[in-house]
Amino acid sequence: MKTEILPVNESSLRLSKEIITSGGAVAFPTETVYGLGANAFDNAAVENIFKIKGRPNDNPLIVHVHKDYDISSLVSYVPEYAKALAKAYLPGPLTMVYKSKGTVSKAVSCGLDTLAIRIPSHEGAQEFLKYVNLPIAAPSANISKHVSPTSAEHVYYDLNGKIRLILDGGNSSGGIESTVLDCTGDSPVILRSGLVTREMIEKIAGSCGEYVLKEGEAARSPGMKYKHYSPNCRTMLFEFCDLQKAVVEYKKNKADGEKVKILCDDKTAEIIGEADILNLGKTESEIAANLYLKLREGENSASLIIAIAPEKQDGIMVGVMNRLKKACGSKL
Ligand code: TXA
Ligand code: MG
Repeated sequence: MKTEILPVNESSLRLSKEIITSGGAVAFPTETVYGLGANAFDNAAVENIFKIKGRPNDNPLIVHVHKDYDISSLVSYVPEYAKALAKAYLPGPLTMVYKSKGTVSKAVSCGLDTLAIRIPSHEGAQEFLKYVNLPIAAPSANISKHVSPTSAEHVYYDLNGKIRLILDGGNSSGGIESTVLDCTGDSPVILRSGLVTREMIEKIAGSCGEYVLKEGEAARSPGMKYKHYSPNCRTMLFEFCDLQKAVVEYKKNKADGEKVKILCDDKTAEIIGEADILNLGKTESEIAANLYLKLREGENSASLIIAIAPEKQDGIMVGVMNRLKKACGSKL
């Protein structure tokens, strides 16, 4: 199959609708990462998404809808705190999990009685979702366990030949996946941290829990238990306080003939000085936006990435650290 990358316009939207309504998959931009979408009502189309990605079939998908879509046809109950959160932060990088009405394909939630709904803010995503006017089940548009894509080129690298169309909406400005929030209980619980932070949620909802997967327990958000976001090269991760140890590792591996790069923020890069650096940038938003971009750049130009955690790890850095640890298979 020939894979085309097209800008979001009338003719590519028409093509995307043709593909979606005939049971195919379309990659589309969002403000977090690119998604690989299929009609959430079409069982075979949803199952095909799992096949294309090589995704384990117990890891449920998020359903994406445009901002005027009536989600009461998909979910049975939306608590007051969730309505307030939606008013404050949607459209945006926040996915909310509700009790499902069971109207979408069973393959979307992999047997769970809940459904994750996301209303992305990216203009291209809104145009696509509005044009097809269907709930779109979409995981990130990467091969399972690889780094999530933040550009049309990243999607092409992973899925060339496997899908017909990639809608190109430029680089994703957010850079890490949406916050996943369980809204089925009396108060919200974060299942995956992201750009909508715990502090932001608490400000609106009063309280907010954070779910931590315990050894041997069935995951409430099955995606948590899998290795994720990994570049195709060796990785190491050091805390900022272990910076000197990281530099020693860098020098040792370089002397052994490895092609080594250090992944760190701009402040750390200045302290290190002369070295081969994948610079994540200065501000927290830049660091999040560049994380996957730099991991992909690293895997294509190095045999070892030595990542150094940012010094400050609150706010959106909670999500960045979560992804860094998973990318480096680390228990830091
Ligand atoms: O930003 C994002 O969320 C991106 C873009 C494309 O929207 N999507 C994304 O999808 O990251 P994916 O499939 O890579 O991650 C979905 C996460 C998984 O951790 C999954 O376990 C969780 O959402 N999830 C989906 N449905 C769920 C449900 N009903 N209950 C609990 N967790 C759920
Ligand atoms: Mg993913």
